[in-house]
Amino acid sequence: LNYNVNRERRYILQVLFNGLRRLEYRGYDSAGIAIDSSLSLDPNTPQCSSISITPPPLIFRQEGNIESLVKSVYHELNLEDSFSIHAGIAHTRWATHGEPSPRNSHPQTSGAGDEFLVVHNGVITNYEVLKETLIRHGFTFESETDTEVIPKLAKFVFDKANEAEGDQTVTFSQVVLEVMRHLDGAYALIFKSRHYPNELIACKRGSPLLIGVKVRRLESSEFKASKNIDLYAKQFSVVFYSFTLLKGVLQCRLLTELTENMGNGSAFEDNNFLSKNGHPKELFLSSDANAVVEHTKKVLVIEDGEVVHLKDGAVSILKFENDKGKHGGSLSRPASVQRALSVLEMEVEQINKGHYDHYMQKEIHEQPESLTTTMRGRLIRGGSSKSKTVLLGGLKDHLKTIRRSRRIVFIGCGTSYNAALAARPILEELSGVPVTMEIASDLLDRQGPIYREDTAIFVSQSGETADTLLALQYALDNGALCVGITNTVGSAIARNTHCGVHINAGAEIGVASTKAYTSQIVVMAMLALAIGGDTISNEARREAIIDGLFDLPNKVREVLKQDQEMKDLAKLLISEQSLLVFGRGFNYATALEGALKVKEVALMHSEGILAGEMKHGPLALVDENLPIIVLATRDACFSKQQSVIQQLHARKGRLIVMCSKGDAASVCPAESCRIIEVPHVEDCLQPVINIIPLQLLAYHLTVLRGFNVDQPRNLAKSVTTQ
Ligand code: G6P
Repeated sequence: LNYNVNRERRYILQVLFNGLRRLEYRGYDSAGIAIDSSLSLDPNTPQCSSISITPPPLIFRQEGNIESLVKSVYHELNLEDSFSIHAGIAHTRWATHGEPSPRNSHPQTSGAGDEFLVVHNGVITNYEVLKETLIRHGFTFESETDTEVIPKLAKFVFDKANEAEGDQTVTFSQVVLEVMRHLDGAYALIFKSRHYPNELIACKRGSPLLIGVKVRRLESSEFKASKNIDLYAKQFSVVFYSFTLLKGVLQCRLLTELTENMGNGSAFEDNNFLSKNGHPKELFLSSDANAVVEHTKKVLVIEDGEVVHLKDGAVSILKFENDKGKHGGSLSRPASVQRALSVLEMEVEQINKGHYDHYMQKEIHEQPESLTTTMRGRLIRGGSSKSKTVLLGGLKDHLKTIRRSRRIVFIGCGTSYNAALAARPILEELSGVPVTMEIASDLLDRQGPIYREDTAIFVSQSGETADTLLALQYALDNGALCVGITNTVGSAIARNTHCGVHINAGAEIGVASTKAYTSQIVVMAMLALAIGGDTISNEARREAIIDGLFDLPNKVREVLKQDQEMKDLAKLLISEQSLLVFGRGFNYATALEGALKVKEVALMHSEGILAGEMKHGPLALVDENLPIIVLATRDACFSKQQSVIQQLHARKGRLIVMCSKGDAASVCPAESCRIIEVPHVEDCLQPVINIIPLQLLAYHLTVLRGFNVDQPRNLAKSVTTQ
């Protein structure tokens, strides 16, 4: 072939490795990659049994970071080899079944000969039964993963079909459709096979998956060649799949854009390998748009139960007709799916660190901007006071129903739960509707009551957290009105709730959520205003909150100036074993969230304590050594917090008090007490201000203690497994 094949091989590896790098933020402990052998086009390639088959793929799997995988691949691979097939897959793994090790990393294979390869995001819950069955049929297992049953099942299905037919008539899609029927659990999968060179199959149920579609510009000489040689053109069918076990955390706005050759409602079966202008396409499968956006913004979001077939640059999507292909579903009648391209509204710069050392640092410091974006177009303040109002487009048709609900139930996990907790008091106050809180996993564990008359509000940065999604399904099954508050347009929560609000905080890459937290609180404050409506009785309060919201980015800017102060405090606390944070009322959530930040990134034990509960246990911990942060900014609970400070001081507590500007003297019982002064804002917005010094403290503590800020030990950005 008269073009530089070697360059293409390098290109594919670069795409795959860059994709994995883009996903590092989500947390992982091992990585793997598979590309085709350079012998693929050799006419003397030996055939496997009676079936035509390409040589085994090259598989590299390694524990540890991506750079060590990159090194070993470049070390072992002869990049000067000719190379004909361009369907590569790569994966970062966050261990669930089996320790981090090369054999437990993905791709997992069907066994000797590596006829089928699979990368998997999620958990297969019935893998033990499948494994026993496959062992009875002579398969041996090498890993401890749940995933390994999948490629082995594919081989089993493939062999059975070929035994029956006598030759290779079963298609790759048929094999995967059959495999899928036997899988329980949550998954997004990509299959690659030696039997189907230049083809990939992807399918999903419960875990995110999208396809990026790119028309690649070729050098004019390459372009000429590609027009002339069909086979040559196929070689540009680079299929990239990058995956992690953790779900997509990305800030993207998916706007439906109908393309010229894909009208609304027409099935997405794009069988033209070359685009209109003759440039070949590259297709990128990924669980996360962050890995795709540097190549293309045009994506197809894959839905549950769908099976995607990529062949020589063409895409087709099938879906089971009944029961999403579960046991008993109709294998013979998967229907073609209609899908239009969406456009990611995100920039590559958003997922870069800029001039910051870490993503978490960048995200803390960009909160004035992220909050402005969250509020943009949603707060109206005209000349007269009457025109001060809130517009949440995604909710306008449902506000009446929410107001009439018997109860509002907030459901979320981690920081998202804390954000809801911070917003609860204002929602109760303005709506008059009882508001209860549910941690998603706990609601599921208890199968707690959810009624038709309830409004269930699901708060999730990623929109993909497994527990929150299962709780959503539970609430839908129980007939509640389901509202989503998420940072990820096109996410499962955004798609499956009845209505909702996007927080528009921009891509959040640091595992520890910072800017999404403050944007979530602001969205929920706006939600409280929208539900509360424009009644005379709450007019003054409503206006004060709206004015406060307008001014909030400035106040955040002001508090961010305490960066150095927080670094100094971090230096004092660097060797501590433990840190308590006392809060109440609007700032109980701040205590929980501040402690969570310190715990998750600085790896220091930290506990958020409801100050009202102090005497019922926590007081026993107080001595002159244990540092305690008390949140005592001005609000209705201020005097109670003053008395908490006195009681802690009387027991020689080592106090750090956060107070409103000018209040130092009235909260500080002794010279030894350290003060964090923050700007005063409307009480329901104070949590947005108060969390920022604690975010900065957690950040500096982590850096000073030498830990990984953006990927804390054992944690993941989005938890897609239960
Ligand atoms: C993980 C992340 C947290 C996040 C939580 C909920 O634990 O590390 O930062 O708060 O999941 O995630 P969600 O995407 O649903 O907000």
